[in-house]
Amino acid sequence: MTRTDQKIGGVEFRSVSRRYGKVTAVDAISFKVEPGTLVTLLGPSGCGKTTTLRMIAGLEAASEGQILIGGRDVTLLPATDRDVTMVFQSYALFPHMNVLDNVAFGLEVSGVPKVQREEQAMAGLAMVGLAGFETRLPSELSGGQQQRVAVARALVLEPEVLLFDEPLSNLDAKLRRKMRDDIRELQSKLGLTSVYVTHDQEEALAVSDRIIVMNRAVIAQEGTPADLYRRPVSRFVADFMGISNLLDGTVTRRAEGRVTAHFGEAVLDLPETAITRADEITVAIRPQAIRLATEPGPDRLPVTVRKATYLGSHLEYVLDSSAGELFVVDPTSETPVPPGSSAWATFRHEGVALVPRDGQVA
Ligand SMILES: Nc1ncnc2c1ncn2[C@@H]1O[C@H](COP(=O)(O)OP(=O)(O)OP(=O)(O)O)[C@@H](O)[C@H]1O
Ligand SMILES: [Mg+2]
Repeated sequence: MTRTDQKIGGVEFRSVSRRYGKVTAVDAISFKVEPGTLVTLLGPSGCGKTTTLRMIAGLEAASEGQILIGGRDVTLLPATDRDVTMVFQSYALFPHMNVLDNVAFGLEVSGVPKVQREEQAMAGLAMVGLAGFETRLPSELSGGQQQRVAVARALVLEPEVLLFDEPLSNLDAKLRRKMRDDIRELQSKLGLTSVYVTHDQEEALAVSDRIIVMNRAVIAQEGTPADLYRRPVSRFVADFMGISNLLDGTVTRRAEGRVTAHFGEAVLDLPETAITRADEITVAIRPQAIRLATEPGPDRLPVTVRKATYLGSHLEYVLDSSAGELFVVDPTSETPVPPGSSAWATFRHEGVALVPRDGQVA
């Protein structure tokens, strides 16, 4: 399959809202998806991800704002007049049609002659690694294979924009990892502009050029996977990106590009990547950035080991401290420090982010 360059368009939302009666499902959001890139909408259940996707497809009308695809205002265009296809969570395959007919179906609707559409469908199946499965029925396929058929069916239409709504949620963990890599590979190889919905942060980090984190109908933060992982701007984003230790702290000094942050007895001197101007802050610490030491130090926090778990590839600790409870993931040592022990927690600075306390403005 080859693509004609002028078909590759980006997507832009300009202050788009969607209301259902009194419920605001999406509240004046603006974002851009650059042509040929994959952007993920990441967020908890009910935050407005599917509604946003359906508005790109034209399956849902915007209550306010403007939607552009390939620079063209499509706000009022129905789904049938937009060059967008969607891969659904449920795959939505036709149970009575074989694999080839399922993949060729969209082409048939678009009036592509039989020989040509079967040829394209075969090429699509080869692309997702399902050559030889043409005559099977969906019921004769595994979940992962059905998912591939759904992807092939969307790919053969060579849409201007390809949408994925939690496409992997019916698959087991191992298959999910393989499929997400396959989807990403196909997407970048074909240069397809794609919007991908998930509530799994690891999946989002793995597949995306950019991630849009949504919370309660608005955008909480947008950036590259590395931006979001290293520099969350709020407690919500930190928590959602897996930084599970969120402790109250204060900033006592800011000078020469560095900040001094206190929490419990610990004092950390951090580079001013800190995105907060307030003095009352939340210190967000990745479980992997904490280690146990046997000696005290000014940048260490006295702790008591409450729980130690050996998990083969790593150890997990739950620690009590004056700043609160800490959860630790340590892949570097083999022998757990036993519960009841006193120790000191040390912190790797790259795994520490300062964010505003909830209710405070950055
Ligand atoms: N047709 C509808 N009528 C009324 N409210 C709706 C409708 N569709 C969605 N909503 C509401 O809009 C909000 C956003 O829904 P949406 O389906 O976009 O969430 P989501 O982020 O996709 O969640 P999930 O992860 O559970 O799929 C929710 O509060 C939902 O209840
Ligand atoms: Mg949804």
